[in-house]
Amino acid sequence: MLPATVIFALLAASPASAYSFERSIENTFAGHLVRRDSDDFANSTLWPAPAANGGKAWTKAFAKAKATVAQLTPEELFNLTVGLDGRCVGNTAPVPRFNIPEFCFGDGPAGVRDVEGVSQFPAELTTAATWDRDLMYRRNKAMGQEFYDQGVHIPLAPVSGGPLGRSPLEGRAWEGGFTDPYACGEAAYQYVTAFVDSGVASVAKHWILYEQELNRNPHGLQTKNASWPGGTQLPVSSNIDDKPMHEVYMWAFAEAVRAGTTHVMCSYNQINNTHSCSNAKSLNGLLKTELNFQGAIMSDWGGHWDTFPSMYNGMDMSMPGSQLDSLLGDFWADCVELINNGTVAEDIVREKVVRILTPYYHLGQDVNPLPDFIYNTIGPPYVNDTAGYRNVRKSGTADLIKEIGMSSVTLLKNTGGLPLKTPQRVAVLGDDATDNIYGANSCGATNSACLITNLNGTLTIGFGAGSAYSPYIVTPFDALKQRAIQDNTEVYGMFADSNSTTAVAAIQTMLPLSDVTIVFVNRWFGRGMDAPSLDLTGDADYLVEQAVSYSSNVVVVIHATGVVNIEKWADNPNVTAIVAAYLPGQESGAGLVPILYGDVSPSGKIPWTWGKSLDDYPPNGIVTDMVYSPQSNFTEGSFIDYRWFDKYNITPRYEFGYGLSYTTFKYSQLSISKKSSKDSTSIMDTAEPFVGYDGSNSLYDVLFTASAKITNTGDYTASEVAQLYISIPEDGQPVRVLRGFDKVKDIKPGASATASFAIRRKDVSAWSTVDQHWYVPNGTFTISVGASSRNLLLNTTWTP
Ligand SMILES: *[C@@H]1O[C@H](CO)[C@@H](O)[C@H](O)[C@H]1NC(C)=O
Ligand SMILES: *[C@@H]1O[C@H](CO)[C@@H](O)[C@H](O)[C@H]1NC(C)=O
Ligand SMILES: *[C@@H]1O[C@H](CO)[C@@H](O)[C@H](O)[C@H]1NC(C)=O
Ligand SMILES: *[C@@H]1O[C@H](CO)[C@@H](O)[C@H](O)[C@H]1NC(C)=O
Ligand SMILES: *[C@@H]1O[C@H](CO)[C@@H](O)[C@H](O)[C@H]1NC(C)=O
Ligand SMILES: *[C@@H]1O[C@H](CO)[C@@H](O)[C@H](O)[C@H]1NC(C)=O
Ligand SMILES: *[C@@H]1O[C@H](CO)[C@@H](O)[C@H](O)[C@H]1NC(C)=O
Ligand SMILES: *[C@@H]1O[C@H](CO)[C@@H](O)[C@H](O)[C@H]1NC(C)=O
Ligand SMILES: *[C@@H]1O[C@H](CO)[C@@H](O)[C@H](O)[C@H]1NC(C)=O
Ligand SMILES: *[C@@H]1O[C@H](CO)[C@@H](O)[C@H](O)[C@H]1NC(C)=O
Ligand SMILES: *[C@@H]1O[C@H](CO)[C@@H](O)[C@H](O)[C@H]1NC(C)=O
Ligand SMILES: *[C@@H]1O[C@H](CO)[C@@H](O)[C@H](O)[C@H]1NC(C)=O
Repeated sequence: MLPATVIFALLAASPASAYSFERSIENTFAGHLVRRDSDDFANSTLWPAPAANGGKAWTKAFAKAKATVAQLTPEELFNLTVGLDGRCVGNTAPVPRFNIPEFCFGDGPAGVRDVEGVSQFPAELTTAATWDRDLMYRRNKAMGQEFYDQGVHIPLAPVSGGPLGRSPLEGRAWEGGFTDPYACGEAAYQYVTAFVDSGVASVAKHWILYEQELNRNPHGLQTKNASWPGGTQLPVSSNIDDKPMHEVYMWAFAEAVRAGTTHVMCSYNQINNTHSCSNAKSLNGLLKTELNFQGAIMSDWGGHWDTFPSMYNGMDMSMPGSQLDSLLGDFWADCVELINNGTVAEDIVREKVVRILTPYYHLGQDVNPLPDFIYNTIGPPYVNDTAGYRNVRKSGTADLIKEIGMSSVTLLKNTGGLPLKTPQRVAVLGDDATDNIYGANSCGATNSACLITNLNGTLTIGFGAGSAYSPYIVTPFDALKQRAIQDNTEVYGMFADSNSTTAVAAIQTMLPLSDVTIVFVNRWFGRGMDAPSLDLTGDADYLVEQAVSYSSNVVVVIHATGVVNIEKWADNPNVTAIVAAYLPGQESGAGLVPILYGDVSPSGKIPWTWGKSLDDYPPNGIVTDMVYSPQSNFTEGSFIDYRWFDKYNITPRYEFGYGLSYTTFKYSQLSISKKSSKDSTSIMDTAEPFVGYDGSNSLYDVLFTASAKITNTGDYTASEVAQLYISIPEDGQPVRVLRGFDKVKDIKPGASATASFAIRRKDVSAWSTVDQHWYVPNGTFTISVGASSRNLLLNTTWTP
């Protein structure tokens, strides 16, 4: 493999490609190389592990952990740092002498995975589209309760910026949400505090630069190819410099740390050709020193690759250890001997266990023990028939799921198709409207059990570790039927593959007799598999083509894990409305149908930029090179998603933050109050250096507050997501960046509400790679407030 030094020396020297941004850091880049050899990103002498101190929120728990850890034997220390076989997807052994139980780790940013009797929540993607911090909090509060009641101490969630969505093809970006670091961070903050408030851990993941599934190569599961040295392929290396690392990729993790995340998971990919879980700069330096993270870092399952660098470079827990017959690597299996024979200083391991037990005590899991995790799963490898069954769903959760779905639905096009005007006869096309004929969960938690020939039914969640089983699904067709009963109208569905002669005949007969045709289309992806293209799944495009040929009032509903190409029909005049409904979870139809019928006005906005084709996005988003050590150079730097579209003036199909309503809004009276206030949101303090630090101020102090008046000038009561963008007056900065959003809710026709935005020092700062600190650039900042990233209705300026 190429040493990182060589790669970055070449990077610095090579002329900027057509797509790479003007690297303002090119000079300072050289400064970096002079200062330190990049091979040493794995050197803990240069990036030493800081001792934990419990931070400001965990003082008591830290003291308790210190006291316990001082008495632990090497065996007991080992039991807490290394995973072993057990009932959960990850398990640590107990320490009976101190009444410390087996810790149960469970997958799932969308619910307790692989277990029945739990809720299937809307994906983080869907929740992002609501732009509603309150719903984000309530979602994870309810989900945290289910993890607790099911006996999972450590839910492996939320996805807080890894992947962030550098490429629209990333298969599991839907497990997170926004491709914008600020918005992703706002969501992460809510998710983390909500989990902690419900008594379970929070695992911010996947740290960091984990932006493709292809070639992620968990240890033990690498692509094997005899022509590569060693016979196996290394995980892709994400190569990026310090500036976008801080300004884009670390941002949301910083919010998770501020919110008090108890754990962080290091990722599969390499960083600068050092395994993420062994990178001293990234773990000891950026996470534990700069962000002052006080909890424990665990490896992703198969992200652990060595005994020593990881031991010293910041990783605290090796997962899943010896589970699955050590298939994924059990590199700390000799931990006890290593301590006993003096190879590893006992204090190194004690420090790890302090970081592991502090959250446990802080969460009160010692005084409020969780019930035992129950095996009631419906698929391998966790089947155990001693099961029993535990339904942990609380009343109210289904309503919350429906509310999130409803608030996320995003109206993309509307030439009069919506809201439906009490249609007498509704035609529904597409298997995405209805049940999977083999059962809602028949594809399993991965999609591996899915029959290739099956029409898989309506899409409510992606597949893989971010999936969760549904207790039932209220399909769109179910909810449309309920509506027909209520309205005394008719609804007909055609769900067969539309390429059959019978299906085409049915479409030809049904559509001309209907007042409206609703076509449901989807695209499904997940962990371990990037999308090969932006195409919809199956016969979706053909189905829409059929629909527009026989109906002049076609409404298309899209359930998808990400951006899909809709160029074949988006502009067709017979397509009278397009709606994005994302991955809504178990209450799918219940959240959608009230929007279609106009009981509630749509208020979702897209959390990424919807390009017209893959060519609109930065190239090489997914590196497909089948070489021994694949290299992903993040040459676009900070310019992902709308930053890229804005920089190169590319017109997307729909811009970041876009979404229509049934009403109209007038934006007015943008004003700025220069009244500053102290940081009141950092549950934990980071130690990010910044210019102007005086010993008592914070990077998260509010420097000014902006507000704008939003008036409903139409006929529908509706909510609006007002967004604030800032142009930072400094070379190399994006045209503008999102730095605030406020969803003002349920504004009646003629009424107004105030959207307000608290702007913190960090929100107007840039990162200096030379001086290694944040600073507020001199100059005039343009502050814009509007309805999307390109519909900027109000502008003003601010100067520091
Ligand atoms: C990554 O960057 C290095 C240095 O410029 C270059 O040698 C290498 O070919 C690049 N790799 C890919 C896959 O673009
Ligand atoms: C780590 O860096 C220190 C200080 O520069 C150096 O003495 C040591 O040899 C390095 N360790 C390795 C393994 O390269
Ligand atoms: C470590 O865990 C095992 C179960 O795997 C348990 O039997 C043993 O007692 C624990 N060791 C200590 C020293 O507590
Ligand atoms: C990766 O290498 C670049 C260039 O040397 C450097 O700026 C950056 O800090 C490194 N990051 C990590 C986490 O190793
Ligand atoms: C210490 O134990 C480890 C693991 O068994 C072994 O590999 C190593 O050689 C031992 N070192 C010494 C100095 O005995
Ligand atoms: C199920 O769990 C019991 C009790 O923990 C254990 O003895 C048994 O081996 C398990 N069976 C399977 C199939 O995992
Ligand atoms: C159903 O899922 C299988 C397996 O993932 C896939 O091959 C097939 O294309 C899907 N069918 C449809 C209509 O999406
Ligand atoms: C359906 O048939 C059309 C017309 O023959 C063809 O273009 C299209 O590829 C087919 N789609 C599928 C999913 O079979
Ligand atoms: C629109 O639908 C009508 C049938 O209602 C059809 O005659 C016409 O060709 C369609 N137009 C387009 C552009 O598909
Ligand atoms: C290994 O992968 C390379 C690149 O895809 C391919 O050309 C080669 O045939 C593969 N070798 C084997 C033995 O599969
Ligand atoms: C801003 O201007 C002041 C006064 O000229 C200067 O001291 C300071 O260094 C400047 N800051 C930056 C970030 O350029
Ligand atoms: C605000 O500024 C942006 C450019 O930064 C411009 O596109 C937009 O039209 C302006 N809005 C108004 C109302 O002037």
